Amino acid sequence: MENDLFEAARDAMAKAHAPYSKFPVGAAIRAEDGKIYTGANIENLSFPEGWCAETTAISHMVMAGQYKIMEVAVIAEKLALCPPCGGCRQRLAEFSGASTRIYLCDETGVKKTLALSDLLPHSFETELLG
Ligand code: THU
Repeated sequence: MENDLFEAARDAMAKAHAPYSKFPVGAAIRAEDGKIYTGANIENLSFPEGWCAETTAISHMVMAGQYKIMEVAVIAEKLALCPPCGGCRQRLAEFSGASTRIYLCDETGVKKTLALSDLLPHSFETELLG
């Protein structure tokens, strides 16, 4: 089941534009509609203007009219079990629930499964806005 997500993240990683870090990352989200939305990191010569693979995948999901992440796989070419960065944890949280699963992969497949609360405990949540 999760293998298709791993493969989609790996394929997305091949499209990364990472000439500065040389650290390609791929992400694949399965949304509520059952479809897979992918992304890679897209860097920029003006370094802070680049963004992460998870962010690209989220934007594809939202533009397809989907707002709920069921599961997400992340893979990096040069690091097994690449954890989403802090900013991406908050972006994933925006569209995740208690049952959302995060898969950290190596080049052979899913190696670790986490809940968002593992990655982002004590998060800033909607209820806190009052
Ligand atoms: N990167 C991601 O795409 N996702 C992460 O969660 C970690 C970091 C990218 C950003 C940058 O293009 C490269 O990896 C090196 O930091």
